Amino acid sequence: MEKDIYIADVQSGHHDGQRIQLKGWICRNRGSNKLWFIVLRDSTGRIQCVAKRADVGDDTFEALKAALIETSVIVSGTVNVDERSEGGHELVIDSATIVGAINPERPYPITESVMDVEDLSENAFLLDNRHLYLRTARMTQMLKIRSSVFGAIHQYFRSRDFTEYQAPNFVAGAVEGGSTLFEVPYFPTEKNPDRKAYLTQSWQLYAEAAMPALERLYTIAPSFRAEKSRTTRHLSEFWHAEMEIAWAGNTEVMAHGEGVVRHIARTVLDEREEELVALGRDLELIARYADTPYPRIRYDEAVETLQGMGIEIEWGQDLDHSKEKVLTQDFEVPHFLTHYPRIAKPFYHRPDPDDPKYVLCHDLLAPEGYGEIIGGGERTWSEAEILERIDEEGTPREPYEFYIDVRRYGGVPHGGFGLGVDRVCSWLAGADHIREVIPFPRDSRRVSP
Ligand code: 4AD
Ligand code: MG
Repeated sequence: MEKDIYIADVQSGHHDGQRIQLKGWICRNRGSNKLWFIVLRDSTGRIQCVAKRADVGDDTFEALKAALIETSVIVSGTVNVDERSEGGHELVIDSATIVGAINPERPYPITESVMDVEDLSENAFLLDNRHLYLRTARMTQMLKIRSSVFGAIHQYFRSRDFTEYQAPNFVAGAVEGGSTLFEVPYFPTEKNPDRKAYLTQSWQLYAEAAMPALERLYTIAPSFRAEKSRTTRHLSEFWHAEMEIAWAGNTEVMAHGEGVVRHIARTVLDEREEELVALGRDLELIARYADTPYPRIRYDEAVETLQGMGIEIEWGQDLDHSKEKVLTQDFEVPHFLTHYPRIAKPFYHRPDPDDPKYVLCHDLLAPEGYGEIIGGGERTWSEAEILERIDEEGTPREPYEFYIDVRRYGGVPHGGFGLGVDRVCSWLAGADHIREVIPFPRDSRRVSP
């Protein structure tokens, strides 16, 4: 039953003149009483197939003619080179089997007229029918690029002796501040009838606990943020690639951030050229993201630049998306922003010993207005410093005792970062919205399908 020939192989000319069998779904059809054309699609491409009543017989001809869009079929026939057909080949059918027929009373709902809308990513009907929308060429392209991005991240870290490590998703405290924390009722106890757990915002704190054991570790896992703001780059469940490394500071961690992003760009270019072109992406741009070093600028310089552009921003504020958008619009490649004010960042960031108003941290901002794709830096690693930072934030110590212990028992300098995988996919694919690059997006409005 396993399928052995995919449409892309046929379109590449590997089966010219041969009699083959193809399995797939009908995505277009037209014809007359004597001649019926279908465009067959599979996960690799599309090909025109033609059936002549005189060749296939009345029964097969009528069955093909009655088959609606998205009917699954097995067709056999001979591959002809045909310049006029999409992809340059055509299958002349001699026999066909309908596999999954469609009830004519419930035709496939994603029609060409439904797809003919201004903004595909905002369309409620398409979001409601996401499970079917996945079959469109655009989604298939996005998902293939996504797969290459995941593969590239694993490859980057594994080839550098990082150990893949898993942290829990139910946690007792926040990493990235309480405002985006998801609360979950969690097995009430007698002492604590309202016991709550939270969905993790980041793997980081539990990775730091394993840092003395593994020294170089990484993950790709979901993280959760109760983001109410609806933007083109926020999900409530997103995929987070994170790394942690012992005996390293902000500069070394940044080098890995740059390394992995450039490796992702190179991999996508090597593996998904066709998809990038189909999505209208300029390949030279992606090559530049792979080949050109990423500059580093300090937060203060970025604020001055923004102020020079007439943007209102106060020193000490984190940059929100609107400001990052303006700042990155004319970037040729991603830029690191370093040394944010201490007051703008969570407790785990290490204050700069040269000027403790700042922390040794970085965000990597993607060009073309996409903005932050990485957040990371050097960690506060002594017990005294971490207690000072936790207290100054007004965070209770109790849920973080395990984290403080990492410092009490042989603390060492270390650091790491988190990369928003969906954001990287969105940027490299040139998507209009982060929703376009994840199969079933979760945001403040939607948890279904
Ligand atoms: O900057 P963030 O909040 O940093 C952390 O979570 C650190 N604990 C990571 C670490 O050092 N291990 O998040 C890291 C990245 C962001 O730069 C962004 O790319 C992505 O995660 N991200 C989101 N992506 C999609 N939707 C959201 N709501 C996101 N929130 C963060
Ligand atoms: Mg951040």
